Amino acid sequence: MTAHAVRTGVWFIGARGSVATTATAGCAAVAAGLHPPTGMVTETPPFTDTGLPPLTSLVFGGHDTLDCPLPKRAEVLAAGGVLPYGLPTAVEAELTTADAEIRPGGPLPGDTRTDEELIGAFAADIEDFTRRHGLARTVVVNVASTEPAPGDDDSRMPASSLYAAAALRAGCPYVNFTPSTGLRSPHLKDAVESCGLPHAGRDGKTGQTLLRSVLAPMFVHRALPVRAWSGTNLLGGGDGAALADPAAAAAKNAGKERVLADTLGTAPEGEVHIDDVPAMGDWKTAWDHIAFDGFLGSRMILQTIWQGCDSALAAPLVLDLARLLARSHEAGLTGPRPELGFYFKDPDGGPAALFDQYAALVDFAERLREAR
Ligand SMILES: NC(=O)c1ccc[n+]([C@@H]2O[C@H](COP(=O)([O-])OP(=O)(O)OC[C@H]3O[C@@H](n4cnc5c(N)ncnc54)[C@H](O)[C@@H]3O)[C@@H](O)[C@H]2O)c1
Repeated sequence: MTAHAVRTGVWFIGARGSVATTATAGCAAVAAGLHPPTGMVTETPPFTDTGLPPLTSLVFGGHDTLDCPLPKRAEVLAAGGVLPYGLPTAVEAELTTADAEIRPGGPLPGDTRTDEELIGAFAADIEDFTRRHGLARTVVVNVASTEPAPGDDDSRMPASSLYAAAALRAGCPYVNFTPSTGLRSPHLKDAVESCGLPHAGRDGKTGQTLLRSVLAPMFVHRALPVRAWSGTNLLGGGDGAALADPAAAAAKNAGKERVLADTLGTAPEGEVHIDDVPAMGDWKTAWDHIAFDGFLGSRMILQTIWQGCDSALAAPLVLDLARLLARSHEAGLTGPRPELGFYFKDPDGGPAALFDQYAALVDFAERLREAR
Protein backbone atom coordinates (compact mmCIF):
# COMPACT_ATOMS: atom_id res chain seq x y z
CA MET A 1 0.00 0.00 0.00
CA THR A 2 1.44 3.43 -0.88
CA ALA A 3 1.74 6.01 1.87
CA HIS A 4 -0.88 8.00 -0.02
CA ALA A 5 -3.47 5.22 0.24
CA VAL A 6 -3.05 4.67 3.98
CA ARG A 7 -6.11 5.91 5.84
CA THR A 8 -6.51 6.51 9.56
CA GLY A 9 -9.67 6.27 11.63
CA VAL A 10 -10.65 8.84 14.24
CA TRP A 11 -13.32 7.44 16.56
CA PHE A 12 -14.94 10.07 18.77
CA ILE A 13 -16.65 9.15 22.01
CA GLY A 14 -19.24 11.93 22.08
CA ALA A 15 -19.23 12.14 18.26
CA ARG A 16 -22.27 14.44 18.08
CA GLY A 17 -20.95 16.94 20.64
CA SER A 18 -19.71 20.47 19.91
CA VAL A 19 -16.01 19.58 19.94
CA ALA A 20 -16.38 16.45 17.78
CA THR A 21 -18.69 18.19 15.30
CA THR A 22 -16.32 21.16 15.02
CA ALA A 23 -13.34 18.82 14.53
CA THR A 24 -15.14 16.75 11.88
CA ALA A 25 -16.41 19.79 9.96
CA GLY A 26 -13.12 21.64 10.46
CA CYS A 27 -11.03 18.76 9.14
CA ALA A 28 -13.17 18.63 5.99
CA ALA A 29 -12.93 22.41 5.54
CA VAL A 30 -9.15 22.56 5.96
CA ALA A 31 -8.58 19.43 3.83
CA ALA A 32 -10.62 21.06 1.04
CA GLY A 33 -8.61 24.27 1.31
CA LEU A 34 -11.66 26.29 2.41
CA HIS A 35 -9.93 27.53 5.57
CA PRO A 36 -6.32 27.69 6.81
CA PRO A 37 -5.35 25.28 9.63
CA THR A 38 -5.37 28.03 12.29
CA GLY A 39 -4.59 26.60 15.74
CA MET A 40 -3.28 23.27 14.42
CA VAL A 41 0.23 22.97 15.82
CA THR A 42 0.88 19.88 13.68
CA GLU A 43 0.56 22.06 10.56
CA THR A 44 3.52 24.27 11.62
CA PRO A 45 7.11 23.82 10.31
CA PRO A 46 8.51 21.66 13.18
CA PHE A 47 6.09 18.89 12.11
CA THR A 48 7.01 18.84 8.42
CA ASP A 49 8.09 15.36 7.25
CA THR A 50 7.29 13.70 10.57
CA GLY A 51 4.99 11.19 8.88
CA LEU A 52 1.75 12.43 10.42
CA PRO A 53 -1.35 11.19 8.59
CA PRO A 54 -2.60 13.91 6.22
CA LEU A 55 -5.95 15.49 7.07
CA THR A 56 -7.32 14.13 3.79
CA SER A 57 -6.63 10.57 5.03
CA LEU A 58 -8.72 10.80 8.21
CA VAL A 59 -11.99 8.85 8.38
CA PHE A 60 -14.43 9.76 11.17
CA GLY A 61 -16.84 7.70 13.24
CA GLY A 62 -17.78 7.31 16.87
CA HIS A 63 -20.26 6.65 19.65
CA ASP A 64 -22.88 8.98 21.05
CA THR A 65 -26.01 8.63 23.14
CA LEU A 66 -27.82 11.35 21.14
CA ASP A 67 -29.24 10.81 17.66
CA CYS A 68 -29.22 14.37 16.25
CA PRO A 69 -27.63 14.09 12.75
CA LEU A 70 -24.22 15.72 12.40
CA PRO A 71 -25.25 18.12 9.58
CA LYS A 72 -28.03 19.42 11.84
CA ARG A 73 -25.64 19.68 14.79
CA ALA A 74 -23.29 21.68 12.55
CA GLU A 75 -26.16 24.03 11.56
CA VAL A 76 -26.81 24.73 15.24
CA LEU A 77 -23.13 25.49 15.79
CA ALA A 78 -23.11 27.81 12.75
CA ALA A 79 -26.20 29.62 14.10
CA GLY A 80 -24.27 30.16 17.35
CA GLY A 81 -21.26 31.58 15.48
CA VAL A 82 -19.03 28.60 16.31
CA LEU A 83 -18.76 27.44 12.69
CA PRO A 84 -18.61 30.02 9.91
CA TYR A 85 -21.80 30.77 8.04
CA GLY A 86 -22.19 28.41 5.06
CA LEU A 87 -19.64 25.85 6.27
CA PRO A 88 -22.20 23.14 7.19
CA THR A 89 -23.51 23.27 3.61
CA ALA A 90 -19.99 23.27 2.13
CA VAL A 91 -19.00 20.11 4.05
CA GLU A 92 -22.42 18.46 4.24
CA ALA A 93 -21.26 15.37 2.32
CA GLU A 94 -18.40 14.74 4.76
CA LEU A 95 -20.70 15.30 7.76
CA THR A 96 -23.28 12.90 6.35
CA THR A 97 -20.58 10.25 5.74
CA ALA A 98 -19.29 10.62 9.32
CA ASP A 99 -22.85 10.57 10.67
CA ALA A 100 -23.42 7.14 9.10
CA GLU A 101 -20.48 5.86 11.17
CA ILE A 102 -21.84 6.91 14.57
CA ARG A 103 -23.06 4.02 16.73
CA PRO A 104 -25.31 4.19 19.80
CA GLY A 105 -23.29 4.80 22.95
CA GLY A 106 -24.17 3.91 26.49
CA PRO A 107 -24.96 2.94 29.07
CA LEU A 108 -28.34 4.70 29.02
CA PRO A 109 -30.64 4.44 32.06
CA GLY A 110 -32.15 0.94 32.20
CA ASP A 111 -29.30 -0.69 30.24
CA THR A 112 -28.93 -4.14 31.81
CA ARG A 113 -25.63 -5.04 30.12
CA THR A 114 -22.65 -5.78 32.36
CA ASP A 115 -19.42 -3.75 32.08
CA GLU A 116 -17.86 -6.65 30.19
CA GLU A 117 -20.76 -6.77 27.72
CA LEU A 118 -20.60 -3.01 27.14
CA ILE A 119 -16.83 -3.08 26.56
CA GLY A 120 -17.26 -5.97 24.11
CA ALA A 121 -20.03 -4.16 22.20
CA PHE A 122 -18.08 -0.88 21.96
CA ALA A 123 -14.89 -2.69 20.88
CA ALA A 124 -16.83 -4.60 18.21
CA ASP A 125 -18.17 -1.29 16.79
CA ILE A 126 -14.64 0.15 16.55
CA GLU A 127 -13.17 -3.04 15.03
CA ASP A 128 -15.99 -3.19 12.49
CA PHE A 129 -15.33 0.46 11.47
CA THR A 130 -11.58 -0.16 11.09
CA ARG A 131 -12.12 -3.34 9.07
CA ARG A 132 -14.86 -2.05 6.75
CA HIS A 133 -12.83 1.01 5.78
CA GLY A 134 -9.54 -0.89 5.50
CA LEU A 135 -7.92 1.58 7.94
CA ALA A 136 -4.29 1.22 8.98
CA ARG A 137 -5.35 2.09 12.52
CA THR A 138 -8.07 3.94 14.44
CA VAL A 139 -7.38 6.45 17.22
CA VAL A 140 -10.12 6.64 19.85
CA VAL A 141 -10.63 10.17 21.25
CA ASN A 142 -12.88 10.81 24.23
CA VAL A 143 -14.77 14.10 23.81
CA ALA A 144 -17.95 13.01 25.63
CA SER A 145 -19.63 15.01 28.40
CA THR A 146 -17.55 15.31 31.56
CA GLU A 147 -18.72 12.75 34.11
CA PRO A 148 -18.50 13.04 37.90
CA ALA A 149 -15.37 11.45 39.40
CA PRO A 150 -16.30 7.90 40.51
CA GLY A 151 -16.42 7.06 44.23
CA ASP A 152 -13.72 4.83 45.78
CA ASP A 153 -16.10 1.94 46.33
CA ASP A 154 -17.90 1.99 42.96
CA SER A 155 -18.01 -1.58 41.65
CA ARG A 156 -19.02 -0.44 38.14
CA MET A 157 -16.68 1.44 35.87
CA PRO A 158 -17.67 4.94 34.64
CA ALA A 159 -18.66 5.12 30.96
CA SER A 160 -15.38 6.82 30.01
CA SER A 161 -13.45 3.81 31.34
CA LEU A 162 -15.69 1.33 29.50
CA TYR A 163 -14.90 3.11 26.24
CA ALA A 164 -11.19 3.34 27.14
CA ALA A 165 -11.15 -0.42 27.81
CA ALA A 166 -12.91 -0.98 24.48
CA ALA A 167 -10.24 1.10 22.71
CA LEU A 168 -7.48 -1.07 24.17
CA ARG A 169 -9.38 -4.24 23.31
CA ALA A 170 -9.77 -3.06 19.71
CA GLY A 171 -6.00 -2.36 19.60
CA CYS A 172 -6.44 1.42 19.28
CA PRO A 173 -4.32 4.33 20.53
CA TYR A 174 -6.42 6.37 22.95
CA VAL A 175 -6.74 10.07 23.84
CA ASN A 176 -8.76 11.38 26.77
CA PHE A 177 -9.53 15.05 26.00
CA THR A 178 -11.89 15.27 29.01
CA PRO A 179 -11.36 15.26 32.79
CA SER A 180 -13.29 11.96 33.05
CA THR A 181 -11.50 8.86 34.37
CA GLY A 182 -10.85 7.01 31.09
CA LEU A 183 -7.78 4.77 31.41
CA ARG A 184 -7.05 5.98 34.94
CA SER A 185 -9.50 3.53 36.51
CA PRO A 186 -8.05 1.06 39.04
CA HIS A 187 -10.09 -1.60 37.19
CA LEU A 188 -7.92 -1.00 34.09
CA LYS A 189 -4.46 -0.93 35.70
CA ASP A 190 -3.33 -4.31 34.32
CA ALA A 191 -4.93 -3.77 30.90
CA VAL A 192 -3.18 -0.39 30.55
CA GLU A 193 0.21 -1.75 31.61
CA SER A 194 0.09 -4.65 29.16
CA CYS A 195 -1.69 -2.94 26.24
CA GLY A 196 1.37 -2.04 24.14
CA LEU A 197 -0.50 0.99 22.76
CA PRO A 198 0.29 4.72 22.96
CA HIS A 199 -2.16 6.83 24.94
CA ALA A 200 -2.46 10.42 26.18
CA GLY A 201 -4.58 12.50 28.54
CA ARG A 202 -6.15 14.08 30.28
CA ASP A 203 -8.43 17.12 29.77
CA GLY A 204 -7.54 19.44 26.92
CA LYS A 205 -5.81 22.69 27.89
CA THR A 206 -7.56 25.26 25.74
CA GLY A 207 -8.34 28.52 27.59
CA GLN A 208 -8.04 29.54 31.22
CA THR A 209 -5.59 26.76 32.05
CA LEU A 210 -3.52 27.48 28.95
CA LEU A 211 -3.12 31.04 30.21
CA ARG A 212 -2.32 29.80 33.72
CA SER A 213 0.43 27.52 32.42
CA VAL A 214 2.07 30.55 30.79
CA LEU A 215 1.57 33.10 33.59
CA ALA A 216 2.48 30.91 36.57
CA PRO A 217 6.11 30.36 35.40
CA MET A 218 6.42 34.14 34.90
CA PHE A 219 5.80 34.73 38.60
CA VAL A 220 8.24 31.94 39.53
CA HIS A 221 10.99 33.23 37.21
CA ARG A 222 10.58 36.83 38.43
CA ALA A 223 10.68 35.66 42.10
CA LEU A 224 7.23 37.15 42.76
CA PRO A 225 5.35 35.01 45.30
CA VAL A 226 1.72 34.35 44.36
CA ARG A 227 -0.55 34.68 47.38
CA ALA A 228 -3.88 33.80 45.81
CA TRP A 229 -5.17 32.79 42.37
CA SER A 230 -8.95 32.78 41.90
CA GLY A 231 -10.94 32.11 38.76
CA THR A 232 -14.49 32.17 37.48
CA ASN A 233 -15.82 30.76 34.21
CA LEU A 234 -19.12 31.53 32.53
CA LEU A 235 -20.10 29.18 29.75
CA GLY A 236 -23.13 27.53 28.14
CA GLY A 237 -23.52 24.70 25.63
CA GLY A 238 -23.47 21.02 26.54
CA ASP A 239 -20.24 21.45 28.47
CA GLY A 240 -21.75 24.26 30.57
CA ALA A 241 -24.78 22.10 31.37
CA ALA A 242 -22.62 19.07 32.30
CA LEU A 243 -20.37 21.21 34.50
CA ALA A 244 -23.38 22.64 36.37
CA ASP A 245 -23.18 19.32 38.26
CA PRO A 246 -20.79 20.10 41.17
CA ALA A 247 -19.23 16.61 40.96
CA ALA A 248 -18.39 17.06 37.27
CA ALA A 249 -17.10 20.60 37.91
CA ALA A 250 -14.89 19.26 40.73
CA ALA A 251 -13.26 16.84 38.26
CA LYS A 252 -12.60 19.75 35.87
CA ASN A 253 -11.31 22.18 38.50
CA ALA A 254 -8.85 19.66 39.93
CA GLY A 255 -6.95 19.84 36.61
CA LYS A 256 -7.01 23.65 36.52
CA GLU A 257 -5.64 23.83 40.08
CA ARG A 258 -3.04 21.15 39.41
CA VAL A 259 -1.33 23.34 36.82
CA LEU A 260 -0.74 26.01 39.47
CA ALA A 261 0.43 23.60 42.17
CA ASP A 262 2.86 21.91 39.74
CA THR A 263 4.32 25.21 38.53
CA LEU A 264 4.34 27.27 41.72
CA GLY A 265 5.39 24.34 43.92
CA THR A 266 2.43 24.87 46.25
CA ALA A 267 -1.28 25.40 45.71
CA PRO A 268 -2.10 29.11 46.26
CA GLU A 269 -5.23 30.31 48.04
CA GLY A 270 -8.29 30.70 45.81
CA GLU A 271 -10.76 28.55 43.95
CA VAL A 272 -12.12 28.07 40.45
CA HIS A 273 -15.86 28.37 39.83
CA ILE A 274 -17.79 27.35 36.74
CA ASP A 275 -21.23 28.87 36.08
CA ASP A 276 -23.59 27.49 33.44
CA VAL A 277 -24.98 30.42 31.39
CA PRO A 278 -26.98 28.71 28.60
CA ALA A 279 -27.42 31.98 26.66
CA MET A 280 -23.66 32.04 26.01
CA GLY A 281 -23.80 28.77 24.06
CA ASP A 282 -20.32 27.57 23.21
CA TRP A 283 -18.68 30.89 24.14
CA LYS A 284 -16.78 31.20 27.36
CA THR A 285 -15.61 34.08 29.54
CA ALA A 286 -12.95 33.23 32.12
CA TRP A 287 -11.68 35.72 34.71
CA ASP A 288 -8.56 35.20 36.74
CA HIS A 289 -7.59 37.33 39.73
CA ILE A 290 -4.01 36.86 40.91
CA ALA A 291 -2.73 38.43 44.12
CA PHE A 292 1.06 38.53 44.36
CA ASP A 293 3.81 40.13 46.40
CA GLY A 294 6.39 42.59 45.09
CA PHE A 295 9.63 44.03 46.49
CA LEU A 296 9.46 44.93 50.21
CA GLY A 297 6.08 43.22 50.46
CA SER A 298 4.17 45.57 48.17
CA ARG A 299 0.88 43.93 47.28
CA MET A 300 -0.12 43.70 43.64
CA ILE A 301 -2.91 42.26 41.52
CA LEU A 302 -3.06 40.93 37.97
CA GLN A 303 -6.50 40.35 36.43
CA THR A 304 -7.13 38.65 33.11
CA ILE A 305 -10.25 38.20 30.97
CA TRP A 306 -10.31 35.37 28.44
CA GLN A 307 -13.19 35.28 25.95
CA GLY A 308 -13.15 32.37 23.59
CA CYS A 309 -15.15 29.89 21.61
CA ASP A 310 -14.53 26.62 23.36
CA SER A 311 -15.00 24.23 20.47
CA ALA A 312 -12.93 26.34 18.08
CA LEU A 313 -10.12 26.22 20.64
CA ALA A 314 -10.46 22.48 21.22
CA ALA A 315 -11.04 21.10 17.71
CA PRO A 316 -7.58 21.80 16.20
CA LEU A 317 -5.94 20.25 19.26
CA VAL A 318 -8.13 17.16 18.94
CA LEU A 319 -7.04 16.79 15.30
CA ASP A 320 -3.39 17.30 16.33
CA LEU A 321 -3.67 14.61 18.99
CA ALA A 322 -5.36 12.09 16.71
CA ARG A 323 -2.56 12.53 14.17
CA LEU A 324 0.23 12.40 16.77
CA LEU A 325 -1.16 9.26 18.41
CA ALA A 326 -1.65 7.58 15.03
CA ARG A 327 1.96 8.35 14.10
CA SER A 328 3.19 7.19 17.56
CA HIS A 329 1.41 3.89 17.00
CA GLU A 330 2.90 3.52 13.54
CA ALA A 331 6.37 4.23 14.98
CA GLY A 332 5.88 1.47 17.59
CA LEU A 333 5.74 3.82 20.61
CA THR A 334 3.70 2.51 23.53
CA GLY A 335 2.40 3.63 26.92
CA PRO A 336 1.60 7.15 28.18
CA ARG A 337 3.15 9.93 26.07
CA PRO A 338 4.43 12.68 28.42
CA GLU A 339 5.71 14.52 25.30
CA LEU A 340 2.10 15.50 24.65
CA GLY A 341 1.67 17.28 28.02
CA PHE A 342 1.49 20.52 25.99
CA TYR A 343 -2.12 19.65 25.19
CA PHE A 344 -3.41 18.68 28.65
CA LYS A 345 -4.37 20.13 32.02
CA ASP A 346 -3.53 16.91 33.84
CA PRO A 347 -0.83 15.28 31.69
CA ASP A 348 0.94 11.95 31.96
CA GLY A 349 4.14 13.45 33.40
CA GLY A 350 6.61 15.80 31.73
CA PRO A 351 7.17 19.52 32.50
CA ALA A 352 4.33 21.77 33.73
CA ALA A 353 5.17 25.09 32.03
CA LEU A 354 3.80 25.58 28.51
CA PHE A 355 7.10 26.59 26.87
CA ASP A 356 8.92 23.57 28.34
CA GLN A 357 6.03 21.39 27.15
CA TYR A 358 6.30 22.91 23.69
CA ALA A 359 10.06 22.16 23.63
CA ALA A 360 9.28 18.52 24.59
CA LEU A 361 6.69 18.36 21.79
CA VAL A 362 9.16 19.68 19.20
CA ASP A 363 11.75 17.11 20.38
CA PHE A 364 9.06 14.47 19.93
CA ALA A 365 8.42 15.68 16.38
CA GLU A 366 12.13 15.23 15.69
CA ARG A 367 11.95 11.69 17.08
CA LEU A 368 8.99 10.88 14.84
CA ARG A 369 10.89 12.28 11.85
CA GLU A 370 13.95 10.13 12.62
CA ALA A 371 11.72 7.05 12.97
CA ARG A 372 10.62 7.28 9.34
N1 LIG B 1 -14.11 22.82 24.43
C1 LIG B 1 -13.07 22.90 25.18
O1 LIG B 1 -12.37 23.89 25.16
C2 LIG B 1 -12.71 21.73 26.04
C3 LIG B 1 -11.51 21.76 26.73
C4 LIG B 1 -11.17 20.68 27.52
C5 LIG B 1 -12.02 19.61 27.62
N2 LIG B 1 -13.20 19.61 26.98
C6 LIG B 1 -14.09 18.48 27.20
O2 LIG B 1 -14.54 17.95 25.98
C7 LIG B 1 -15.80 17.30 26.22
C8 LIG B 1 -16.77 17.67 25.11
O3 LIG B 1 -17.11 19.03 25.19
P1 LIG B 1 -18.30 19.56 24.26
O4 LIG B 1 -18.33 21.02 24.42
O5 LIG B 1 -18.20 18.96 22.92
O6 LIG B 1 -19.57 18.95 25.01
P2 LIG B 1 -20.98 18.55 24.38
O7 LIG B 1 -21.93 18.46 25.53
O8 LIG B 1 -21.32 19.44 23.24
O9 LIG B 1 -20.74 17.10 23.75
C9 LIG B 1 -20.62 15.94 24.54
C10 LIG B 1 -21.22 14.79 23.77
O10 LIG B 1 -21.00 13.59 24.54
C11 LIG B 1 -22.17 12.77 24.38
N3 LIG B 1 -22.21 11.75 25.45
C12 LIG B 1 -22.57 11.91 26.74
N4 LIG B 1 -22.50 10.72 27.38
C13 LIG B 1 -22.07 9.81 26.48
C14 LIG B 1 -21.83 8.42 26.54
N5 LIG B 1 -21.96 7.72 27.66
N6 LIG B 1 -21.43 7.81 25.41
C15 LIG B 1 -21.28 8.49 24.24
N7 LIG B 1 -21.51 9.81 24.13
C16 LIG B 1 -21.90 10.46 25.24
C17 LIG B 1 -23.32 13.77 24.43
O11 LIG B 1 -24.50 13.21 23.90
C18 LIG B 1 -22.75 14.91 23.57
O12 LIG B 1 -23.09 14.74 22.20
C19 LIG B 1 -16.26 17.70 27.62
O13 LIG B 1 -15.98 16.66 28.53
C20 LIG B 1 -15.36 18.89 27.91
O14 LIG B 1 -15.16 19.08 29.29
C21 LIG B 1 -13.56 20.64 26.17
